[in-house]
Amino acid sequence: MSEKIKLSSSLEKQEEYTELLRDILYIRYNNRQPRAFVHTYGCQQNVADSEKLKGMLEAMGCALTEDKEEADIIIFNTCAVREHAEDRVFGNVGALKALKKKKPSLLICLCGCMMEQEHIAQKIYKSFPYVGLVFGTHVIHQFPELIYNAVTTGKRHVERGTDDGLIYEGLPIHRDGSFKGWLPIMYGCDNFCTYCIVPHVRGRERSRRSDIVIEEARKMVEAGYKEITLLGQNVNSYGKGLEEKTNFPELLRSIGELEGDFWLSFMTSHPKDASKELIDVIAENPKISPHLHLPFQCGSDRILKAMNRRYTVEKYLEIVDYAKSRIPDLSLTSDVIVGFPGETYEDFRQTLELIKKVEFTSLFTFIYSKRVGTPAAKLPDPVTHEEKARWMGELLKTQEQIAAKRTASMVGNTYRVLIEEQAREGVLNARTHNGVVVEVEGGPELIGSFRIAEITQARNFILKGRVTPLDDLTTQ
Ligand code: SAH
Ligand code: SF4
Ligand code: F3S
Repeated sequence: MSEKIKLSSSLEKQEEYTELLRDILYIRYNNRQPRAFVHTYGCQQNVADSEKLKGMLEAMGCALTEDKEEADIIIFNTCAVREHAEDRVFGNVGALKALKKKKPSLLICLCGCMMEQEHIAQKIYKSFPYVGLVFGTHVIHQFPELIYNAVTTGKRHVERGTDDGLIYEGLPIHRDGSFKGWLPIMYGCDNFCTYCIVPHVRGRERSRRSDIVIEEARKMVEAGYKEITLLGQNVNSYGKGLEEKTNFPELLRSIGELEGDFWLSFMTSHPKDASKELIDVIAENPKISPHLHLPFQCGSDRILKAMNRRYTVEKYLEIVDYAKSRIPDLSLTSDVIVGFPGETYEDFRQTLELIKKVEFTSLFTFIYSKRVGTPAAKLPDPVTHEEKARWMGELLKTQEQIAAKRTASMVGNTYRVLIEEQAREGVLNARTHNGVVVEVEGGPELIGSFRIAEITQARNFILKGRVTPLDDLTTQ
């Protein structure tokens, strides 16, 4: 067994707490099943952590609820990546004061990335006396023990632990979706991009053993999952530090070879580690989505260097060109930061150039947000927020034109789609294998199934299609 996987004894202790909590919580909440509300901020990594918290809550005998008002336990799993994300949490925690007053037995817990910052954990503790439990990302597996201590002592508690570099396998899990599922393959990040808080709050990179990941994927397919998304801050460094010799393309290939009708995707790929081998695996396996989320952040080499991204625009375009040449119907998406400290309009213009060259399907765009404790926070940042917002406007307009061209080119074509959700009465959102959303007509009984859709029109960036009744194409 790899030394990176914690021996089960520490989880056995948590199972004992879980067992005790079944009675303790039942009695505490007037001899009825306690109800728990979990709200997740931030990225899919947090969503995956919340699925574990929900699994543990269910094991304690709780029912999950979507309604804060009726909850006995409220958990906010927070994100620290930008100031805006943090402000939302502060606002929403403030709004819980009235609920706690109405229901003194309510247990309010805050966890996740924000809590890994000392100054934030302290601020929460001081400013919100009705918050009962604060815990960080490194102690999620101790959740039953933390809840046990909170309810049996009645004392407020902050538990941040340390990054022990271990992976705690075998926690219960409650997946939010029944046909789309997240599968973390690694945790943490070692890249230390100078603007980013993630390595500071998520600890060092560590990979899950490949046999465990593959088995989990197999079980998901068996349980009817139609789309599995492998998760990691940089999936391309998967395998480092494991005893076995493996890498991400190998893992992707193995999961793609599992039997069953499902789509396989992943996020996120760091361009510095995106290899031709990775592109070849995507190109060769029809189950793997022809989609690459490859954040470039900025189109200026000078700024990329200041960001510590460790690739140049030329290197980025090289991998993009190779991917385009190997993967038909490839869809590229990316993250972009506008207004990094010291970025000039000339630097920003190079970002626009890159966007025009690559023609991304869609972009996640962010104005730089200063994060306490990161190297970029100490750099002079003379450009005003208004100016940065103007640049952002320009970027969005450029991207809109590119997206419009792309969606228009899809009209008349036929695609295999996965029906995901109801958009409104009689209208469903479906997604093509490369991640483009199409609105189709139909009832909720189609949700979770693969269908064939013909794209009938593209209007205001929304694609409309018609699903054919017969689904006789194989995975594509
Ligand atoms: N690990 C992923 C990104 C995780 S954070 C990767 O490297 O691709 C998601 C995105 O948030 C980043 O890609 C970046 O574009 C953005 N981001 C991170 N820190 C930021 C900050 N301080 N200000 C603005 N955007 C930021
Ligand atoms: Fe942050 Fe960079 Fe790590 Fe992504 S790769 S999480 S942007 S430090
Ligand atoms: Fe946010 Fe933490 Fe993800 S900071 S983006 S929730 S890893």
